[in-house]
Amino acid sequence: MIARNRARMFAGGVVGCLGLLAGPARADFNETKADYSLQFSQHQMFWTAAQGTPGQYPKTSPLNSGRWTTVAANDLAGWTQGFFPGLLWQMYDKTRDPAWRTRAEAWTTPLAVQQNNTTTHDMGFKFFTSYGQGYRLTGNATYSGVLVTAARSLATRYNPTVGIIDCCDWNSQWDVPMVTDTMMNLELLFWAARNGGDANMNDKALSHARKTMNDMVRPDGSTWHVVDYSRTGAIRSKGTFQGCSRCADQSKATWARGHAWAMYGFTMAYRYTTDPQMLATAQKVTDFYLNNLPADFIPNWDFHPQAPQQKDSSAAAIAASAMMELSAYVRDPVISQRYRNAALATLDALSAPGYLVMGTSNSPGVIKGGVGFFERGEDVNASLIYTDYYFTEALQRYKMRAPGGWVASISFGPSVQSLGTANTGVRVVEFDVTPLTEPVDAVIGYTDTSTNATTYNELPLSIRLNRNGTFDVRRGAVYEALARVEYDPYKSYHIRMRADLNARNYSVWITPPGGAPILVADRYAFRTGAPAIDDLGKVVLKSGIFDNEIRVLNHTVRPEAAAAQAPAAQPAAKARTPRPERPASRPPPSDKK
Ligand code: GLY
Repeated sequence: MIARNRARMFAGGVVGCLGLLAGPARADFNETKADYSLQFSQHQMFWTAAQGTPGQYPKTSPLNSGRWTTVAANDLAGWTQGFFPGLLWQMYDKTRDPAWRTRAEAWTTPLAVQQNNTTTHDMGFKFFTSYGQGYRLTGNATYSGVLVTAARSLATRYNPTVGIIDCCDWNSQWDVPMVTDTMMNLELLFWAARNGGDANMNDKALSHARKTMNDMVRPDGSTWHVVDYSRTGAIRSKGTFQGCSRCADQSKATWARGHAWAMYGFTMAYRYTTDPQMLATAQKVTDFYLNNLPADFIPNWDFHPQAPQQKDSSAAAIAASAMMELSAYVRDPVISQRYRNAALATLDALSAPGYLVMGTSNSPGVIKGGVGFFERGEDVNASLIYTDYYFTEALQRYKMRAPGGWVASISFGPSVQSLGTANTGVRVVEFDVTPLTEPVDAVIGYTDTSTNATTYNELPLSIRLNRNGTFDVRRGAVYEALARVEYDPYKSYHIRMRADLNARNYSVWITPPGGAPILVADRYAFRTGAPAIDDLGKVVLKSGIFDNEIRVLNHTVRPEAAAAQAPAAQPAAKARTPRPERPASRPPPSDKK
């Protein structure tokens, strides 16, 4: 089945990718299959937690061993401890069941012992998967504090002369080494720079990503695994460590998991920075991956033509998650569809009996057939906790985007959607917004066709889901609301906005689930200092803390005459059920948005 569909996607061209670009949307992977695999992941994680001990972290399950090897919380060199708590947070995200939150908290907390660890670059792997996901889903201020401390520890490894995060102290043959894996650890720095850490963490991370782009990515889009620099910044050597080191011509070696880290890492770097070079590099390394992938969508552990044959499902899972995200940033619909199709084909392959553990293998993991370190014979053909993490993440990413619509982005670039040039005069906008997480600090803002939309100040109209758990609306110099309307994750709120572009004011009604429309803004003036606009040309869905905080579905813009009359406003006091205030640990909303 996989081979047939691959053939169909590649059909019709001498060069494979031409056929792929022309191919139909992949239909084989669907929500039913995603639910099936997610349910199995939930089952395996339940038993792993039930049989394990918080502080001892599952890492590898050799084929048919029926058990996980573990790594201790205080193992400073280990890089995998964050993935199991991260999986537990994914289960809390999926179910919203407090029992999963309790499990996730129990496995997250012991890792605090490593927040001051400056001896490794792997702080992002350890902390963004565990504390990062925990903070995304709970807003627990203790978690954000640990994340910022961990980011400061990682930043100490930045070498300003070379402009990179030094990966490795343990190999005396290297002076200032860089590996592709470190692209993944940059997220901790990018995030902390925007959430209470030092602003220069962003520049350090970006400098590292640019050095990786320039010195590790080859002209054909393949990647070196290691570049070693002298203390003055000259390149001493390029090669591979975990890839095919026995292969004769090292310039042909591309370690598949290291390459998947690059695909994911450059995509993530674009998410935070909207630097076009990051997007172009993400596409370049992804194109190499796809153009050299075998028909079953699971790569060999190294792309070198002489590398021994051993499939690596871990690289496939990471690549699937990366391509699911990348497809959302690429504006060309044909290329975007190419990446999405490949992600779905990979998930289809991983969900089939050849790789899904269910009923086929005695493993506590979700996916089998991963390769830890081939040349050392370590963890070959095994279940690996990081395969399970990225496979489950890719499934969740698929589910999140399956209904269509738009999701908010942490950066302005990917957050802008075009509404066309026809929306002048008095317009009625309607849509359904769903918070996908908490805390949420998201804005749905509008500007005109000719405005660039790179800052909040360029959005004359803004509806906000603020950190206090309520909606408000920009009015001149501040945010306000005529009525308190609270929001909860995974519930949908219908928004109706009447925008008068001539009078420069707008009104907003919010309909909570099962409720009546509530007037929250009555002819509010546009944002003070925003550019004058003459059409509603763009909508911006901007997250303030994490990517994907909200989803907007069913967005329409119509002339007032064509829209139904706005429903009468309900008195706020009758329109909502009183409930306790949000916890005091939540920061108040800020007017910076
Ligand atoms: N250090 C990350 C990996 O082995 O992929």
